[in-house]
Amino acid sequence: MMFSGKTVLITGGVQGIGKAIAERFAKLNAKIYIFDLQNPDNNNSNSNIHFIQGDVSNNNEITEFVDHVMDVDGHIDIVVNNAGIIRDAAIWNMAEADFDAVINVNLKGPWLLCRAVAPIMRKQKSGRIINIASRSWLGNFGQSNYSSSKGGLVSLTRVLALELARSNVTVNAVSPGLIDTEMTRSMPPEIFESFVQKQPGKKPGIPEDIASAVTFLASEDSQFINGQILQVDGGKSIGAGH
Ligand SMILES: NC(=O)c1ccc[n+]([C@@H]2O[C@H](COP(=O)([O-])OP(=O)(O)OC[C@H]3O[C@@H](n4cnc5c(N)ncnc54)[C@H](O)[C@@H]3O)[C@@H](O)[C@H]2O)c1
Repeated sequence: MMFSGKTVLITGGVQGIGKAIAERFAKLNAKIYIFDLQNPDNNNSNSNIHFIQGDVSNNNEITEFVDHVMDVDGHIDIVVNNAGIIRDAAIWNMAEADFDAVINVNLKGPWLLCRAVAPIMRKQKSGRIINIASRSWLGNFGQSNYSSSKGGLVSLTRVLALELARSNVTVNAVSPGLIDTEMTRSMPPEIFESFVQKQPGKKPGIPEDIASAVTFLASEDSQFINGQILQVDGGKSIGAGH
């Protein structure tokens, strides 16, 4: 199996895109550690998936998480920075706390986890880091916090790709468009539907579409792809899809 013997860390893997990524890696025989604020629903019968509760924006919790995995497995092969939140409002209505919360989870969180695993991957002389950005890094009305966090994550991806390349570690990002998850279903239904109508194919993606891109970027097949932002958005990033 493609990922036999590999240890994969996934943040925010209890639901949505992260859950689909964890299940895909489990199917391909990896050992997975999910790090999430929420407890899982315990329907997960896959013994390859382990769960640790924590907050990606808390450095102590991230360090304890990475130390725990190293104590148990002694190696970390793949890291997927997936946890993310939205707190949308036009800037004139956005509270400072909503800017800070989104930047802390979506940008500082990945930075903390990358900082914790970089020395391990450098020593191993191998590793893959995949950051889940968003098409909104290109700019979205009402998302000055979220788009900025994802734009920052794109820049972080490009910097770490340069810094870790000589250690045989690649760092790439997947940039999803509209994906049908709890996050997007938290919008009023008419807003969700208006976004669907803006898709070139008039349909949203599903979490498994992102899992396919992530496992490709984590595989041997992508060893010379580094510092790239793979748009997985049904063509939305091309521009007007009418
Ligand atoms: N759904 C979309 O259309 C879409 C589009 C573009 C990008 N994304 C990105 O994909 C990722 C996953 O999105 P989703 O739609 O599955 O979201 P979701 O809200 O369904 O799931 C996010 C998960 O992250 C966890 N989480 C939140 N804050 C955390 C924290 N501080 N520490 C640890 N875990 C935390 C949540 O508990 C949850 O399990 C996010 O980074 C999001 O920005 C989603």
